[in-house]
Amino acid sequence: MEIISPEEPRAIRRVSQLLQQGELVALPTETVYGLAADAFNPRAVRSIFEVKGRPLIDPLIVHFHHLEQLETLTTRSQDPRLHILARHCWPGPLTLVLLRDKKIPDLVTAGHDTVAVRMPAHPLLRAVLAESQLTIAAPSANPFGYISPTTIAHVEASLGDRIGFGLDGGPCSHGIESTILSLADPSTPELLRPGPISRETLEELLACPVGVRARSNTFIDAPGLLPHHYAPRKPFYLFDSGSAPRNAADSEARIYLKRPPRPRPNTYWLSEDGSMETVARHLFATMRQLDEIVSITAIWCEKPPADGIGTAILDRMQRAAHRSVS
Ligand code: TXA
Ligand code: MG
Repeated sequence: MEIISPEEPRAIRRVSQLLQQGELVALPTETVYGLAADAFNPRAVRSIFEVKGRPLIDPLIVHFHHLEQLETLTTRSQDPRLHILARHCWPGPLTLVLLRDKKIPDLVTAGHDTVAVRMPAHPLLRAVLAESQLTIAAPSANPFGYISPTTIAHVEASLGDRIGFGLDGGPCSHGIESTILSLADPSTPELLRPGPISRETLEELLACPVGVRARSNTFIDAPGLLPHHYAPRKPFYLFDSGSAPRNAADSEARIYLKRPPRPRPNTYWLSEDGSMETVARHLFATMRQLDEIVSITAIWCEKPPADGIGTAILDRMQRAAHRSVS
């Protein structure tokens, strides 16, 4: 993979042209890195699935630059709920599931009658979207089921031999994937994936209750809801905050939410002070780092409180742990 620096002259122009020509490019977003292609080029979209080893029944999020582009993606661009959320949350880490326009390639939506859309905030991605005038389909730039990448080095490490280009946008500021909210039902919005924008915030903005879709054991609804996802290769266990991981061997790493007073060997932490935004930003990078250290045989991770962004952090940890619990 060639890593394109934003400092290179005409970097944005070049990335835009590559996408217009139907190439895949790994691009930074404020949540995680995405594996991007022109959403209206079915051949390019198909290669996203091939590169990731992703089943074709798992739909993609379409990224766009300005609200008028929604006209080409959804038949419900006038939904008042959409406009409230757009005003407060876009550009930003919120994906909305809306009834689709028929012109979107079926591959993008996996044949569903809905499409997932997001106006991302990362300035480099926004520049590419503005320059290319494309709408961009992009899943997280990781092999299917593995941990999402939050730096271009993560992309290089797990997909570098399968894609031609990646744009370096530095570490992602949120570090976990966007919140996904379905507005497909005209009455009740439904949270499909918790993320940086909390359910509490969405309920406040919409002034109505937001339902939560239960985890699914099938691909039918949204494969990102499968219990096992975002997982390291090593056994990954959770322990309650305030307790120590019992039975952890010396070769097993412990991850705390904040710096412990007297860190022991093989101890890691996700923030200095327990800030949940910082915890989210560092979670995936730390999971990847420990997955790479040969002498570490398993990973223990402290659970966050299950409110606000803590809900989304706990969700990612539980999926990583799913295989490891009996
Ligand atoms: O933060 C993010 O959302 C990142 C960045 C790159 O934008 N993208 C991301 O994409 O996490 P991906 O493909 O890794 O996860 C998207 C999830 C998948 O679980 C997919 O099943 C679900 O969104 N999804 C996509 N379209 C959907 C639809 N029409 N209905 C329900 N779920 C959908
Ligand atoms: Mg993903």
